[in-house]
Amino acid sequence: MSAKLSLELTLAILKPHVVKNPIVLQKIHDMIAENGLKVVRSRRKTITLPEADLFYQEHRQKFFYNRLVTFMCSGPSDILILAGSNAISKWREIMGPTKVFQAQYSAPESIRGKFGLSDTRNATHGSDSIESAEREMQILFKDFDCRKWRESYGSS
Ligand code: RTP
Ligand code: MG
Repeated sequence: MSAKLSLELTLAILKPHVVKNPIVLQKIHDMIAENGLKVVRSRRKTITLPEADLFYQEHRQKFFYNRLVTFMCSGPSDILILAGSNAISKWREIMGPTKVFQAQYSAPESIRGKFGLSDTRNATHGSDSIESAEREMQILFKDFDCRKWRESYGSS
């Protein structure tokens, strides 16, 4: 009898200021591996303005929207699909709070606590739900069939 794997997918972005720093980039990859997350897909690309606009559509009305999309399109990001047990909440826990001041105070060992520079340049992105992960993968990994992947490895 073979036990069914129950893996979840999440979309991670290592933001442009991280990609420019090989040491930080390696440390984040170490944290991914140490926490039992697997990199299923990885690509380095500069996110386009239409992609960023769609990706961050929930924030269009926010005061930080312009600086967020401008920064996200300012240079290459590493875009990853991560898999693991409870990958969505696990990755968000490893990232720490959105705001860097709060991350440094309450989660100093988190990615944002260690490597965040500001609320915009807070090192990484992580999907917040299964629906968001699927939507975000469709924007940034158009050829990735997550339904097919889930049939092989995922939870029901
Ligand atoms: P993310 O989507 O990037 O994983 O982060 P999150 O869920 O923790 O935070 P969210 O509210 O979805 O915000 C998305 C990104 O917007 C930028 N942000 N800037 N006060 C600010 O200047 C501010 N607030 C949010 C951050 O880069 C955040 O990651
Ligand atoms: Mg979010």
